[in-house]
Amino acid sequence: MKELLILAVVTFFTLVTYYLVEPFAHSQMHKHFESDGFAYKDLPAVTKKGDASRGKDLVSACIGCHGIEVAGFQAPMDAVSAAATFGVNPPDLSNAGVVFDEKFLANLIKNPAHALMVEHKFDPAKGQMHPMSEYYATGDDKEQEVADIVAYLRSIAVKQEELTPKMAFETACGRCHAVNYGNWTQIGEKPKFKKKQDELAFETQLLDYQDYLAKYMGTLPPDLSMYIRSRGEHYIETFIENPQNYLKGTAMPRVGVSAESAEKVIEHLKDVGDSKRHERETVGKYVMIYMLIFAIFAILWKKEVWRDLH
Ligand code: HEC
Ligand code: HEC
Repeated sequence: MKELLILAVVTFFTLVTYYLVEPFAHSQMHKHFESDGFAYKDLPAVTKKGDASRGKDLVSACIGCHGIEVAGFQAPMDAVSAAATFGVNPPDLSNAGVVFDEKFLANLIKNPAHALMVEHKFDPAKGQMHPMSEYYATGDDKEQEVADIVAYLRSIAVKQEELTPKMAFETACGRCHAVNYGNWTQIGEKPKFKKKQDELAFETQLLDYQDYLAKYMGTLPPDLSMYIRSRGEHYIETFIENPQNYLKGTAMPRVGVSAESAEKVIEHLKDVGDSKRHERETVGKYVMIYMLIFAIFAILWKKEVWRDLH
């Protein structure tokens, strides 16, 4: 009887300690946010129906800073010169129409710092202008022109099914984050060099770029190779949806990806951070099939052995 009582007391305190250490402390130390499905509810909806053919002319307002390769517009500057000017290299807009959410894009064009949630860093009243200038309408219907530009960007982008995880990552995150394991640097994929001089020249450019970027952001954005493992999928997903939730005052913008593209970005981080994943999954399947066949034989064998004994 006494032993049972002691056992009960010990069990009780073990459970309480476990609860305090694991679920409770965990929930206190790591804030938890649920995804809003990338709905960007704080941003007003697009009210006009865009006309891509008019948008085609209006993007002349963007190509002073951005390349749009599929439309034949090369980036006006190389990555390092762009970072020297803006702090970061403005992304090529070829796939912006599919990577970024439609409503987000319209709001970005009208007021970049607001859509990107970095108004704490850029206050025009204090002369701190966001490096992406807001769009000035050519006529008197700005809403319509913005909708036209968005419609045009959507019309030139690849289809959602053709957007690879890597492309989504490069457009949305690649200007700020390196992914060493995927051979990605902020100035593009690192080529295989035959000559040491060429490699050093590339490294020098990269270091220059990173210096400008670190100055612009206040810190060098981390290499994302292992973040999918260290932070987990849920964290990454809800973090990109609204970085301010987790890191109040952070310089990382809300990038405004669509829900589908967010999934692709995460897929890419998984491909890189856990490259044996697909292999493991197929091996797992074969092991299961093997076990099943083995079990069938085991049952048959057991029946065979026991048959005469019954
Ligand atoms: C004066 C230069 C400039 C002009 C003009 C400009 N942009 Fe940008 N844009 C930038 C810079 C710089 C960034 C990167 C800002 C950052 O990452 O902090 C950017 C970022 C973007 C992004 C990525 C935003 C995100 O959520 O990650 C998109 C999309 C974009 N611009 C579209 C446009 C479109 C469309 C136009 C024309 C209507 C335009 N830009 C005009 C400089 C410019
Ligand atoms: C304009 C630059 C910029 C872009 C674009 C950008 N990031 Fe970041 N990111 C940062 C900076 C700066 C930090 C460091 C934040 C800090 O410490 O306050 C950061 C931090 C992070 C972190 C670490 C968060 C943590 O808990 O420490 C993750 C994960 C991340 N970014 C993912 C992404 C993904 C995924 C994308 C693309 C969808 C992206 N970022 C796009 C600048 C950027």
